[in-house]
Amino acid sequence: MSLPSINPTNTESWKLLLNHYKEIKNLAVQDVFTKESNRALNFTVEWQDFYLDYSKNRLTGETRKLLLDLAEEVKLKEAIEQQFEGKKINETEGRAVLHTALRDFDTMKPEVKSTLHKMKLFSEEVIDGTHKGFTGKPITDIVNIGIGGSHLGPDMVVDALKFYGNHLKIHFIANVDGDHVSETLKSLNPETTLFIVVSKSFTTQETLVNAKVLKDWFLTKAEPQDVQKHFVAVSVNIAAAEAFGISEKNIFPMQDWVGGRFSLWSSVGLSICCAVGYQNFEELLQGAFEMDKHFKSAEFDQNLPVILALISVWYNNFFEAETEAIVAYSQYLNKLVPYLQQAIMESNGKSTDRNGNKINYQTGTIVWGNVGTNSQHAYFQLLHQGTKLIPTDFIGFSESLNGNIGNHNILMANFFAQTEALWAGTYNQDVQNSFKTFDGCKPTNTLLIKKLTPKNLGSLIALYEHKLFAQGIIWNIFSYDQWGVELGKTVAKDTLSAIENKDSGLMENESTQNLIKKFLE
Ligand code: F6P
Repeated sequence: MSLPSINPTNTESWKLLLNHYKEIKNLAVQDVFTKESNRALNFTVEWQDFYLDYSKNRLTGETRKLLLDLAEEVKLKEAIEQQFEGKKINETEGRAVLHTALRDFDTMKPEVKSTLHKMKLFSEEVIDGTHKGFTGKPITDIVNIGIGGSHLGPDMVVDALKFYGNHLKIHFIANVDGDHVSETLKSLNPETTLFIVVSKSFTTQETLVNAKVLKDWFLTKAEPQDVQKHFVAVSVNIAAAEAFGISEKNIFPMQDWVGGRFSLWSSVGLSICCAVGYQNFEELLQGAFEMDKHFKSAEFDQNLPVILALISVWYNNFFEAETEAIVAYSQYLNKLVPYLQQAIMESNGKSTDRNGNKINYQTGTIVWGNVGTNSQHAYFQLLHQGTKLIPTDFIGFSESLNGNIGNHNILMANFFAQTEALWAGTYNQDVQNSFKTFDGCKPTNTLLIKKLTPKNLGSLIALYEHKLFAQGIIWNIFSYDQWGVELGKTVAKDTLSAIENKDSGLMENESTQNLIKKFLE
């Protein structure tokens, strides 16, 4: 059974939304809060520890109704069911998409259970020091070698859950930039370092090159038989990991139905497990599982991922907003945006629809952002007074983890102030100086979460995973493949051969030839 493949622009609701957009696009709607009774509560969804207020948006009850009709017309519900049932909805790669099965504690697949068990035992031994290095010392440092989905998720979560961490220092090597590898090695002692080589395919150039550099470095201090105590792998490709020199007992398997950018829940999360302990890792999975159930069963008008997806489509396709910002008011979420950039942009950066036709409407949003309050002193000027419309998600937490209430109150005062200022601007104020005028009406979603716990983080990540899937369904694209990254990889083989053979003539393009010539000088 295939995913429904309906061109959204041919639906009745899309046509109505176009007309509706014309009616409201120029309205200054700041005063909806005085005009509409219960505006804020009417546009709020409360779920577990999450409180989403989307009332500061350029939409009305009618907009919401039409957007919900759109979700019905493109058969979003059916698509969600197909994903959770494990249908091969990644059609261009002939695969099911089941990262949700990695956290399905009701009906957990045996292979998922056994991998989790293996991760638990291993991480416990590393944390409590039972696992010893080649000179009998316990492990102090872990290096995760992997790129893309084999890096961004674990790196983000390890940072986000630092508060729940232990004595282990976790490092990430993703970039093939040798300077980064060398810098990281400066602080490492081979006797007490564990390397986790993470690659679903075990064919990724950057990861294999870096893994070899690290193994060679290790072998300058240790003997070949010591490798098994210091190198483990995470991969679907067991044979390739063994060929690299890692024995099967040190390989943590993953399944083909787990996409790279959705893989932090799998054995790819081994570094997370070591950093915060298995119990916290399981809570992260539990939080995602809770969000999965919500996405599957909540009515669309109360469904957090669906609501966020529809609002995003509204701005992307009707207001023609090209980008969205995400600003988390928590330093722990410093790496959330780079992680979401891969999840969202690798998934929805597509221009061919599910029927194989070229698309003539906008898909994939560009996401960017950083943490608050730093962002306020960097690019918020443009959000407030620039010419571009940039819908922004604000994410904040009611409780401070370390109990520094004074700072936390100031942080959150800024969090609330910004969404209010962006919305209200200087509307209805007698501002004489045009440079000091703020138009307002800048849309924001406010996600207020009780506390940054492993469980809530799991729910937050899953919220964005499901949001991007819902958007992909509406846009009639395949969100789970990534053919767009392949061409660059192929061309890089040619450029490497031109560099290694010192022959820029191997390249066809004159500009590339000249650049390589200059580089070789
Ligand atoms: O860049 C493309 C990509 O396939 C990503 O989707 C993936 O996360 C990354 O490369 C790493 O792949 P692997 O885990 O197979 O090394």
